[in-house]
Amino acid sequence: MPVSFDSDQRIFKLDTAGSSYVFQIYDEGYLVHLYYGAKIPDINLSLHKYKGWFCSPAPVNINIDDPDFSPDVNTFEFPGEGTGDFRESAIAIGNADGNNSTDFRYVSHRIYDGKPALKGLPSLHISDDSQAQTLEVLTCDKVTGIQAVLYYTVFEEFSAMTRSVKVINPSGNEVEIERIMSACVDFNTRDFDLITLYGKWGKERSVNRSPITHTRQSVSSKRGSSSHHQNPFAAIVDRDAGEEHGNAYGFNFVYSGNFLFSADPDPYGGARVIMGINPEGFGWRLKPGEEFTAPEVVMVYSGDGIGAMSRTFHRLYSKHLIRGAWADVKRPLLINNWEATGMDFTGDKLVTFAERAKELGIDMLVMDDGWFGRRDDDKSSLGDWFVNEEKLGGPLNDFIKRINDLGIKFGIWFEPEMVSRDSDLYRLHPDWCIHVPGREKSIARYQYVLDYSRKEVRDYIYSLMYGILSENNIAYVKWDFNRNLSEVGSAALPAENQREVFHRYVLGVYEIMDRLTSDFPGLLLENCSSGGGRFDPGMLYYSPQIWTSDNTDPIERLSIQFGTSLCYPASTMGAHVSASKRAGYETKGNVALWGTFGYELDPNKFTDEDREIVKHQVGEYHKYYDIIHKGDLYRLISPHENHWRAAWMFVSPDKSEALLTCVVMRKPEDRSFYLKLRGLDSGKYYVDDESGEVYSGALLMNAGLCLNRFGMEDGDSFKIYLRAL
Ligand code: DGJ
Repeated sequence: MPVSFDSDQRIFKLDTAGSSYVFQIYDEGYLVHLYYGAKIPDINLSLHKYKGWFCSPAPVNINIDDPDFSPDVNTFEFPGEGTGDFRESAIAIGNADGNNSTDFRYVSHRIYDGKPALKGLPSLHISDDSQAQTLEVLTCDKVTGIQAVLYYTVFEEFSAMTRSVKVINPSGNEVEIERIMSACVDFNTRDFDLITLYGKWGKERSVNRSPITHTRQSVSSKRGSSSHHQNPFAAIVDRDAGEEHGNAYGFNFVYSGNFLFSADPDPYGGARVIMGINPEGFGWRLKPGEEFTAPEVVMVYSGDGIGAMSRTFHRLYSKHLIRGAWADVKRPLLINNWEATGMDFTGDKLVTFAERAKELGIDMLVMDDGWFGRRDDDKSSLGDWFVNEEKLGGPLNDFIKRINDLGIKFGIWFEPEMVSRDSDLYRLHPDWCIHVPGREKSIARYQYVLDYSRKEVRDYIYSLMYGILSENNIAYVKWDFNRNLSEVGSAALPAENQREVFHRYVLGVYEIMDRLTSDFPGLLLENCSSGGGRFDPGMLYYSPQIWTSDNTDPIERLSIQFGTSLCYPASTMGAHVSASKRAGYETKGNVALWGTFGYELDPNKFTDEDREIVKHQVGEYHKYYDIIHKGDLYRLISPHENHWRAAWMFVSPDKSEALLTCVVMRKPEDRSFYLKLRGLDSGKYYVDDESGEVYSGALLMNAGLCLNRFGMEDGDSFKIYLRAL
């Protein structure tokens, strides 16, 4: 049983293949955290409990006759606000009496096979109840009567669990949730480093690593989306943890809006980790009888380093997050016209793209921004989702038929959450955008954000999308989102509900994505937000792939893809070969292979030589698809740590094939350089297909391969494909 309860000691133990998570119902119903880490057989962990004797000025519970116990010092599962625990709280509720003290204590629990879905929210899913087991702990704040149900679902096979919280108001008073964290873990040491993914437009998900010392460190977004700037991912790792060794605890928030992750060291040597909706700008009114569900946090433990943590996320997400017809199916190799044409295209021009695509073995043409309204630049027409037939040379159906007749599938771009200032929709409904009456509406890219907290707004936009998608043969949609939210308010909500708008907005987006994927189950949805500004598991629940970055320079892409891979699998990373100049097609292809693969250029401009390279690449895409998309990733040389080279490899699950890729970022200074490979079977022999050389797995992993290549220049790269004999 992955979840067990020892009724004598009142201890819960959540076991996976490689981890244990233990907590106890202590006196007065306090939920005391005892342990999270490598799998242990023990149940008696009471000695492990923090001792409270350091805490003289801190208030204690008058009913507990235990000098070792103090809310200021002990480790808790769901700490409240203002009741003796001075660290960051997991929950604060503005009560009917005007006070926001909260103190949730154990009431009851139940353990069952399976995992409940979270209403209106994306979450990990299972196909049958044997795949996960759930512990629900009902807690209650005695004074207000407000209840909180803590959900812990264990994915035994994956060393992973999920956590979320449902707040219920059975009282007769309306209250306001001011703060709700979906997960809190009190580590009894702060001897860790914190790894987070930071960035900006064109430079998403760079890796930051810093020790946890005596100051609180947090990452967050209050932009209305998960953002380019900080990803809702963080890992707490041993100080000396590397790719192959050490404890690593990964946290990832299944949510696409404002978030907060914080590692808060306490004065006694521990650290509290919390993750949830960013309390800044958040509030939720809860009337009598209502409930509120907080999104889910995924927690992965690895005792074998950061690499193994990533591989667990990858496998877990491939099986239990990505859904729908495309979850396991080979994705189409596409060409997108954006970088080649911007909005300056015609139907005829795109047909030539499709003709060239056919010659090269590409499967799909994606028509990006500019096909609707009067959209010849970014100043107008978002919201006016009516086909520009003049531009396409006739009705959309006829245009798509021309593409399909070539044997090429067709995909289209939308930015459904936006309205241009210059649009018929905005002129008709100026109050349909997010705004605060009386305040200037800040503009970004000449557009405002539609108020997706309003059903009529969502319904209107969806009816237009539905019309286009149901009347035309469209196999793919790129769903874009190109600005942050500001002056966040809704014309449809009363004053006391205005702090709900950020979250209601995200729920509205999820509702439309849900309708879209349910109405068009065969559609492949690719999420995008000015590149990778909304690369999060919430989006991955609806769209199995996300455009990783607008930066398609293969050298820049290395650090973006390395960072992204800390938690997201290769199958989710939109990666295209573009006309960028810093490296040749070979390197551009080698880097884009570590993703969904496609092209983002004008294929009419290829030379004969380019065409041959691309045909070869298309063949490689097919040859290596399974190793990359179903195999295990090993990051060998990170561009975040090495100035000269980056290297990574994929190994098939049965270890019978491996693909090593190495990119020279700057001509290396070393004379000879040996790289130890990873993940192979040390008892097998592997042949390098190109050279015919045979090596044992043991040799490749212990002595390594010499990666120096004569004549390698900046931006050059090579692959080595190894096949077990
Ligand atoms: C931003 C996206 O990241 C690009 O790929 C492209 O779709 C443009 N938007 C179109 O406006």
